[in-house]
Amino acid sequence: MAPVTTIAEIGRHAGAVVTLRGWLRGRRSSGKLVFLQVRDGTGTLQCTVFRPDVPAAVFEAASHLGQESSLSVTGEVRPDPRAPGGYEMAVRDVEVVSQAAEYPISPKEHGTAFLLDHRHLWLRSRRQNAILRVRSSVVRACREYFDDRGFTLVDAPIFTPAACEGTTTLFAVDYFGEPAYLTQSGQLYLEAAALALGKVYCFGPTFRAEKSKTRRHLTEFWMVEPEVAWMDLQGDMDLAEDFLVEVVGRVLRERRAEIEALERDPGALERVKKPFPRITYDEALVRLRDAGKPVEWGDDFGGDEETVLASQFDRPVLVHRYPAQVKAFYMKGDPEDPRLALCVDVLAPEGYGEIIGGGQREDDLATLQRRIAEHGLPEAAFSWYLDLRRYGSVPHAGFGMGIERMVAWLCGLHHVRETIPFPRMLERLTP
Ligand code: 4AD
Ligand code: MG
Repeated sequence: MAPVTTIAEIGRHAGAVVTLRGWLRGRRSSGKLVFLQVRDGTGTLQCTVFRPDVPAAVFEAASHLGQESSLSVTGEVRPDPRAPGGYEMAVRDVEVVSQAAEYPISPKEHGTAFLLDHRHLWLRSRRQNAILRVRSSVVRACREYFDDRGFTLVDAPIFTPAACEGTTTLFAVDYFGEPAYLTQSGQLYLEAAALALGKVYCFGPTFRAEKSKTRRHLTEFWMVEPEVAWMDLQGDMDLAEDFLVEVVGRVLRERRAEIEALERDPGALERVKKPFPRITYDEALVRLRDAGKPVEWGDDFGGDEETVLASQFDRPVLVHRYPAQVKAFYMKGDPEDPRLALCVDVLAPEGYGEIIGGGQREDDLATLQRRIAEHGLPEAAFSWYLDLRRYGSVPHAGFGMGIERMVAWLCGLHHVRETIPFPRMLERLTP
């Protein structure tokens, strides 16, 4: 019995006979030769079946194998300088594990709706493989960034009794007869944890009933959120900057092959070095007006404004001190100008939009109570949160980074729908 190996490890077996288990990505025949493109999740390998080398039944089976059939293929590993991985296989035997029915995703072009309907199969493509590997590395890099710097991972609940990010994007669920919501952000719970442990972070799914169809919004997305006691806005901006530099650098090192396979220019990511430009909301307004995008003071920025601003820099830009009226209730007011919130949004270059949102939290009990009332939120639902200001309140700050927007930027994808294995959007709940 030949040893079983994977395509990623094939180089260790040059000259030997091995067995690979995988799926048929494509097949082409030419006289006495059948070329099988076999993928196994670690890579793709050309396996050449030469009629005189195999039993007649094997040649026959190989000649009729349908796309995505599962198979076990045994043969000699041969160096081939023309092959993408440097090797090919001279086949001695093919065992068909399961002959696939006619595969719906053929090599021809398909529309996005069709591909999303077949997302469970679309994941098998080279491009989707590359994106999912980048995503996996982004998640690991985020976690390790915080793990290596003394942060404690604290998981926030998914069922919540109150809104964190405004009441217009809440998903309500029936919680044994009581109304509850799917979490929009772990932040409020992380604030409790920061006062218990100092430096904390959470990583989990978050939900927003986003009714708009944009290329940056999902209804279910994953967010990594650090929260730090005694940190102010300045410290928050420094943390966001350092975090992005480290995560981008690491993903670029680990996943360069995938990023290049996606035809994403790695040069744009190599420029992500400190320091990032930092501008105030007011400075951003001037820049937008100069660029012919008039925005009234007090308006929030939409995707268009973010794209115009970000295009003026070659690395992420930090926009801080937005008008408090466009930001969440928990933002601390700027003591220099109470109309402003001590908050920051990080805009990715090249039009990928806001990837990080955060800031310093209101730590004064009376001010926070007033803000909750001004936002028309039920104080009773926040009584536990207000306790954090009653019992040893301290300055604290944090931020949230959306994994999907980060992956879209790193992979150079126009839309976030390809950055998550099974996207959930306004008009999509399946597969
Ligand atoms: O700016 P947001 O709404 O901030 C918060 O939720 C804070 N509570 C986070 C905190 O301070 N701990 O969202 C943070 C990030 C955005 O910058 C964006 O990357 C992502 O989450 N995001 C979305 N990603 C995909 N689809 C959506 N609908 C998103 N909404 C926000
Ligand atoms: Mg935001």
